[in-house]
Amino acid sequence: METYDVMTTTFAARSFTSKPVSRDTLHRILDHARFAPSGGNRQGWRVISIENSDLREKLQNLMTPTIKAYKAMAMAGETPFNSLEASLVDQATIDATSSEMPFAGNLAQAPVVLVVTVDLKKVTAFDQDLDRVGVIPGASIYPFVWNILLAARNENLGGVLTTFIAHQEPRAKALLGIPDHHAIAAMIGIGEPTQQLTKLKRRAVSDFTAIDHFQGEPLNSG
Ligand SMILES: Cc1cc2nc3c(=O)[nH]c(=O)nc-3n(C[C@H](O)[C@H](O)[C@H](O)COP(=O)(O)O)c2cc1C
Repeated sequence: METYDVMTTTFAARSFTSKPVSRDTLHRILDHARFAPSGGNRQGWRVISIENSDLREKLQNLMTPTIKAYKAMAMAGETPFNSLEASLVDQATIDATSSEMPFAGNLAQAPVVLVVTVDLKKVTAFDQDLDRVGVIPGASIYPFVWNILLAARNENLGGVLTTFIAHQEPRAKALLGIPDHHAIAAMIGIGEPTQQLTKLKRRAVSDFTAIDHFQGEPLNSG
């Protein structure tokens, strides 16, 4: 596919047909995704492909309480788990919320489940002393994660990036033997999508750009 076509058609595919994705295809996807940039070109990623159904079930169970909480907060109009505003949703409401969710609520269904970790010893975090949640370390892993999804799209597959599992990171790390100095960055599902792409809804360039000042004039074409 042409680069701009891949970029504008890589949607979040969350449910998949039963058609398997071969290890060869997965290898090819990762063989292209690995050209992603990272700080100092240190490439601190590791990818664990979760094939074992028992492991999938255990990861699923770990995520269930977080999925329920996320859904309850979203239904209350909050941005779930944001770092600035505490949730007002009570535990009873969370308990009464269903854990149904495509992919993240149904790992068994995905032909490929990947857990991507990053070696924190290899990641520069210039924002670590600031009084806010860190975003800079993500810059050394999410280009790689997104490359996986772009490559999957190029293979006529689809996929989705999820992060629920990080909320139970210590238990997930114990389950998968992930060392202390690695963080879980993403869990990705990949397969043949059951539904095809509808047009992606994204904000216009003029809506998120500014010249010289945060509130400056937007960047328009021409
Ligand atoms: C950090 C991050 C976490 C996400 N987590 C989930 C998730 O847990 N479950 C899910 O179905 N989609 C998840 N997504 C996918 C987004 O919902 C999706 O990219 C967005 O809604 C745009 O979808 P579209 O490309 O189909 O328009 C996540 C995306 C990002 C970037």
